[in-house]
Amino acid sequence: MIFLLYIFIMTNVTKNSKSVKVKAPIVEALKQAYEHPTYQFHIPGHTKGTGTLPEFKKLIGRKALSVDTTDEFDNLGTLHPATGPIKEAQELAAKAFGAKKTFFLLNGSTAGNLALAMALTKKGQKILTNRNCHRSVLTGMIISGAEPLWLIPKRFEDWGIWGNVTPESVEEMLETHDDVSMVWITNPTYEGVVSDIKSISAICKRFGVPLIVDEAHACLWNFNKHLPTPALQLGADAVVHSLHKTGGSMSQSSMLHIAENSLIDADAVEKALKLLHTTSPSLMLLASLDSARANLESQRGQKMLQRAINNAKYLRREIEQMEHIHDLKPDFGYMTDVTKVFIRADGLSGKRLESILEIDFNIEVESASDAGLLLLSNIGNTRADMEYLVKCLKKIDKTSYSDICYLENRKHMPMLTPIIKMSLRDAFYSEKETIPKDLAIGRVSAEVIAECPPGIAVLLPGELITKEHLPYLTDYDFIEVIK
Ligand SMILES: Cc1ncc(COP(=O)(O)O)c(C=O)c1O
Repeated sequence: MIFLLYIFIMTNVTKNSKSVKVKAPIVEALKQAYEHPTYQFHIPGHTKGTGTLPEFKKLIGRKALSVDTTDEFDNLGTLHPATGPIKEAQELAAKAFGAKKTFFLLNGSTAGNLALAMALTKKGQKILTNRNCHRSVLTGMIISGAEPLWLIPKRFEDWGIWGNVTPESVEEMLETHDDVSMVWITNPTYEGVVSDIKSISAICKRFGVPLIVDEAHACLWNFNKHLPTPALQLGADAVVHSLHKTGGSMSQSSMLHIAENSLIDADAVEKALKLLHTTSPSLMLLASLDSARANLESQRGQKMLQRAINNAKYLRREIEQMEHIHDLKPDFGYMTDVTKVFIRADGLSGKRLESILEIDFNIEVESASDAGLLLLSNIGNTRADMEYLVKCLKKIDKTSYSDICYLENRKHMPMLTPIIKMSLRDAFYSEKETIPKDLAIGRVSAEVIAECPPGIAVLLPGELITKEHLPYLTDYDFIEVIK
């Protein structure tokens, strides 16, 4: 009976201009469980919040703790294998994102990337991937034993960031290496630079190599035609989406989609996820994925997304009028995601600009590096939020900060070409020693150094440490190297 009672939100999905019913099965099942509580003699031991610190309960609310449960209980279904409302919610998500199969992920897109590497690659196989991939892609390779063949994307020197991956670079690598088992592209970059996935996908198909796209930052693209086209529509075999980053679900919750016509082994991916996932999945996180998808499909969600796009356009128009503040725009060969606004200010480092915004205006940004900082125009931001931000940026634009001291913790975006001395996995499992950073030049790194955000590697196990690395290692006094 429970499964028949779903939330029906009549909505008009503007992208396909047809009316669809939006359901949220996990949300509804959780609601039923909340409204019909049982005498609980099972985990979680806080037993609907009674066994927790009162201050914590007050902070997050009695209701939140009442619905903090795991799968198998109260007719909520299971995650592995997917059954009941969880199975149905995954199927609805697959439909919404145009996938053959969708897996809900706990532990973020990180879990998805690890599973893809574990399921689709073996020791010694080559993965063609961009150097600015997320560290979870690297961890996946350490686990599976696959080895990276690096694509070095364009560098946008003025902005201190990595740019797009060109189709030509993918083609060239596939022509020179006949042992590539998979191409794995990050799109968009953390700062919103978009590569030509359509052409890259056509090249991969020509060479018969599967294409995985790490779309962690782009789950919204499917829901508004003014955003770039999602990789699943451009021929990618699988993608990950961090719904928690921009889609409105709770932190840590993500999705992995397998494309409709893909030949990659979806069962192997599912088996890897089962190994990686907790055996006590949080129903709250799963419900938040279900509700994020339902919200994005609803008329309300569509409006929120359109507002985020309009807000971003407004912010960019205002920045255009400023004398010293600039935003990254699309250019020849690449596009950008309008909602990710990367800015820089003449005479101010990104880190300094970040601390001015924080200390003087109580504004917290997504991330900052030496060169610039990243602002996200979110589906949850109001126009008033954006007007406040614009007002503050205008003040900064007109102020001289030359004699005002602000926190300046230098942080560079890693943009180095690696010198590989050993395979990633072999180096990771080799004997290591820890030495002062300054003595490490000429030694081979034994650790992944990839600060978050954005989680892009400065050094990987097996790579030669050179003096060029030192400016990127300001937070490190010691480094692990191969003995
Ligand atoms: C490109 C990219 N892929 C994957 C991830 C991992 O995502 P999550 O935080 O959802 O585990 C991130 C996180 O920042 C990322 O930037």
